[in-house]
Amino acid sequence: MIPHRTIATTASAPDAMFSHPPPEPGSDFNVVMIGAGNIMFGSDEGPWNHSFRFEHKLGPRLKVVALIDPSTARADKVLEGKRQSFVESAYKDTKVFKTIEDYHASVQSKHSPTPHAIVVGCPPAYRGGTTKGTDLELHLIKLFPKTAYFIEKPVGTGTVKAAKEVTQELISNGNIVSVGYMLRYLRCVQKMKQIIHDNNLTIMATNARYSAAYEAIAKPAWWNKAIDMGPVIEQGTHFCDLSRYFGGDVDINTVNALSVEFYEKPGKLSKIPIDESKIPPELRIPRLTTAHWKYENGAVGSLTHAVALQGHAYACELEVWADGYHMRLVDPYQAPTLFVRRPGDDHEERHVYTDDDPFFSEVSSFIDAIEGGPDPHILSSFEDATKTYELTWAIRLASEASRAPMPQA
Ligand SMILES: NC(=O)c1ccc[n+]([C@@H]2O[C@H](COP(=O)([O-])OP(=O)(O)OC[C@H]3O[C@@H](n4cnc5c(N)ncnc54)[C@H](O)[C@@H]3O)[C@@H](O)[C@H]2O)c1
Repeated sequence: MIPHRTIATTASAPDAMFSHPPPEPGSDFNVVMIGAGNIMFGSDEGPWNHSFRFEHKLGPRLKVVALIDPSTARADKVLEGKRQSFVESAYKDTKVFKTIEDYHASVQSKHSPTPHAIVVGCPPAYRGGTTKGTDLELHLIKLFPKTAYFIEKPVGTGTVKAAKEVTQELISNGNIVSVGYMLRYLRCVQKMKQIIHDNNLTIMATNARYSAAYEAIAKPAWWNKAIDMGPVIEQGTHFCDLSRYFGGDVDINTVNALSVEFYEKPGKLSKIPIDESKIPPELRIPRLTTAHWKYENGAVGSLTHAVALQGHAYACELEVWADGYHMRLVDPYQAPTLFVRRPGDDHEERHVYTDDDPFFSEVSSFIDAIEGGPDPHILSSFEDATKTYELTWAIRLASEASRAPMPQA
């Protein structure tokens, strides 16, 4: 085994949340949150929790003026918790609404100011589309045309064509929009970008491997292709997006994919935490998907997404090659580490940034973009995120076209 040459790059992330300057007092920053679920308020599933990052970025300036969720009981419950904590001032006047239209009517009738930001964390089925019930962004543009939007991934669950139409509407309306591909903000990822830039590298290939710990995924929607659209569109999207961040635009016509399906022997899983028999067979998710494609510059990309691990921790790794260079991003969720091999040296460097919080960095950049703060770089636009959505759909469709036929009952 090649020994690692550990160079002195175990450093605290310069924009780590704890070393960020404490929020200064100032005028209120009014935020509307859409969705009172895990991404917005946290859960045992992972480190995501947007409210926590907004609180730390804005401190006493944060005023969550509205929380929108058709499940008002869930919204009331999270607010109750916040109001009993030290961030009470951000939530003491939060109003719960079932729809954004109800909130808009309240703003009109009370002549309240429009919010500075709307954070969208509802399920993707309600957004990114052009038909009734899927067209949240189009409503937002009409009701709050000047507000900045932070929108979770994936951009939707409808057609790619519809997502592209929404993209055009957002571009022509000119809002500040950030999409939640937070891995782009990891210090290791930015280090990779810097190495590519400093050495004027042309990427030759990317290879992404994403292994989910399926035993801990207890949401029936995730296991049903009709709701969350399958694990590549819902989850592997993060690594498709990172691949594109390095490889550039994909020639969609070159996407090929194969899958292991639930009805094949290697696809038998012993610890599925939901009752999969309630999901019609044709809507059950593949256990493994492997895909490859050409980027428009001629480089090659590949992805393996596996629904195979048990326990809680995911195992994810992204490799990027260029002439003389091999970069490996390892474990971006738990302990992000970057290994780099460069020309003139057979050893690998190892780069570690402690206390790196990409969720905080993406929220911080979003707010800086709104307020002209020190780091206003939004790394994921809706247009770019729609290209990732297109790639993930191409992978799903290619794997479905090539899969082994399901045995007849
Ligand atoms: N970036 C990440 O790492 C990450 C992590 C988790 C979730 N997500 C994304 O966040 C989104 C939400 O996921 P989640 O885990 O919070 O789901 P969740 O099911 O925990 O919460 C979603 C909430 O939205 C509410 N809701 C449903 N319809 C709504 C509507 N029309 N308007 C407003 N609210 C509505 C639901 O009642 C629920 O409370 C998904 O797109 C998911 O992919 C991203």
